[in-house]
Amino acid sequence: MDDIAVGTLDLAARVDDALAVQALAFGLSDEEIAVRRHIVLRHLASPGARALGATTPDGRLVGFVYGMPNDRAHWWSGVVEPYLRATGSDGWLDDAFVITELHVHPDFQKRGIGRTLITTITGSAAEPRSILSAIDMESPARALYRGLGYRDLARPVIFPSAPSPYVVMGAPLPLRERP
Ligand SMILES: CC(C)(COP(=O)(O)OP(=O)(O)OC[C@H]1O[C@@H](n2cnc3c(N)ncnc32)[C@H](O)[C@@H]1OP(=O)(O)O)[C@@H](O)C(=O)NCCC(=O)NCCS
Repeated sequence: MDDIAVGTLDLAARVDDALAVQALAFGLSDEEIAVRRHIVLRHLASPGARALGATTPDGRLVGFVYGMPNDRAHWWSGVVEPYLRATGSDGWLDDAFVITELHVHPDFQKRGIGRTLITTITGSAAEPRSILSAIDMESPARALYRGLGYRDLARPVIFPSAPSPYVVMGAPLPLRERP
């Protein structure tokens, strides 16, 4: 990833570029993009919300991550809380940095960009742990998260309106170094 720079991203200003990356990486319809756009902009108003972007030398955004300190009053936390409580792991919702989205453009995957984005954003978190949700199936994302020390806290977790079950994962910070 020699030619790719990872740094602070003004996600509100680049939200359309970011969602274009997410649409290619994760698969989003135009309708879902419009919904996500509102959600992202609302998230950015949360205290401590931060984003990092991966850009080419000509400024093209090819990957991004964003997250925020967990707040039990947030929608995501409220959905996952009963599942974590059922596995005795709801303490993870306190003092945790949530990875809300992480996506790398398919043409730029497998070059270490995703790993750099998530280790860098959590590397400057004040919280002692990080939590996230991922689709509950084997995937590059799941392999990446496990390699960084995230373990399954609860699964399957059902989000209203999401077609697939999710898994909630948590890791102590700092994340594990590359083996
Ligand atoms: C998950 C994602 C962000 C990883 O980004 P990336 O830049 O390709 O990842 P990296 O090159 O940094 O790879 C880091 C690790 O991820 C795992 N990984 C990445 N691609 C993989 C693949 N195709 N198969 C299996 N593991 C893979 C490996 O553990 C890898 O570690 P290694 O390099 O030591 O083998 C990217 O695959 C992506 O955008 N996927 C679609 C969107 C998505 O699922 N986002 C997460 C939502 S929860």
